[in-house]
Amino acid sequence: MQMSSRAEAFDRWIRSAFVAVNTELEELYFRQDDRTRVEGVGDSLKTTLRDEGHVHIVGLLKEGNTGDGFQSAFNVLGNVGLYLAALRRHELTNPAREERSPFPEASSLALHVGASLGMAPRFATSHLATHNRAIDGVRKSFTSLRDELLFIDENTRGILALQTAADALTRIVHLGVSNPAADVPFTTAKRALEDVLQFNARLFDQLDVERFFYCVRPYYKPYRVGRIEYRGANAGDFSGINELDLMLGLCRANDPYYANLLVDKMSFMLPADQARLRECMTFTSLLDELLGSLEHATAGWFRRNAGAFLEVCDLFGRYAAQHHDALVKRFIEDPAAKLSKDAQQGLTASGPPLPALLRSLEVLRDMRMAAPRSDTPSRHADLQRLRKALGTA
Ligand code: HEM
Repeated sequence: MQMSSRAEAFDRWIRSAFVAVNTELEELYFRQDDRTRVEGVGDSLKTTLRDEGHVHIVGLLKEGNTGDGFQSAFNVLGNVGLYLAALRRHELTNPAREERSPFPEASSLALHVGASLGMAPRFATSHLATHNRAIDGVRKSFTSLRDELLFIDENTRGILALQTAADALTRIVHLGVSNPAADVPFTTAKRALEDVLQFNARLFDQLDVERFFYCVRPYYKPYRVGRIEYRGANAGDFSGINELDLMLGLCRANDPYYANLLVDKMSFMLPADQARLRECMTFTSLLDELLGSLEHATAGWFRRNAGAFLEVCDLFGRYAAQHHDALVKRFIEDPAAKLSKDAQQGLTASGPPLPALLRSLEVLRDMRMAAPRSDTPSRHADLQRLRKALGTA
């Protein structure tokens, strides 16, 4: 990776002093009876963090260098984003009480680089997951806390496996759903989804609720860049998950709820992911292909491929249920319920109050599970038709 010496120095700082100071601050907050108290705690550490980062940012801004190639610019964007997210976490900025970011230099740099890449001017999930380049075994993080590293690693594994499943289904689109060779990608997709279930189960068992809630999640809050507030990153900001939705046919790009979600997500994805998602929107879903071939329901290819398709849908539905009913509930909903109304403000990555976010995540879960709901679009009846044709309903 080609990087200017200033970009390299900033990267080294993000990987060292930045992590050390954040970790120290987390230990201070966590030691208190009220772990939500941030203001007035560790002020000299916060000043160090703000001022050291500022020196790097002013240097990069002066250099005006976004032309060292994608990798380098993407890395600078991630690093400024991590810096601003940490300042937000430590309450050195808070979008609720400001009209513009109090960090104009960091905002300018993020806006310049973000616009040049075609991405939102903040750190995205890919910076900490799929494109979080490890050096000598150490990947980037906000802190060196065990629970943050566990969260980052299992998120990354989950995303990689969902991408594998999405790649496999894309191959089926090109093979045609009646192709005998579709058994290979169907098997790959199934295995990948089984992997995701296993990674998420491990995260559920091993992640400490309090550490995650008080010391990890707060770095994913929304913050302002310039005047505009950008929502926080979440593990869903990659195209693979939506490719799965669309190719399976469980969600549709012309459904207003789902289309809004896609539009909101686009700029949080890598440009290559944005292109994949756009292409995917032009495909006919596998479900619609199969429903269009019901007159062949007794053919060998139909029985094998429709059967495999239904198994993939079942695993995907289980993943969606696990994300919502296990992970979101255990690590966000339950601990949030114990907080005062005041402390619940600004809890989510996307900004809306928690009950609204939970309702909207529930809709998504139910679409992915093809749940029998009449108040939101669901493919329940269509999957039943397919099962009936196979005699498995
Ligand atoms: C401790 C573990 C996790 C928790 C508490 C959690 C919680 C959440 C929450 C609250 C959101 C909504 C974002 C927002 O605040 O606006 C979200 C979104 C999302 N998360 Fe997770 N998540 C976890 C792990 C994962 C993992 C490991 C994956 C992938 C394998 C994942 C995939 C997604 C996806 C795809 C979305 C976007 C919405 C969607 O399309 O489903 N999450 N998550």
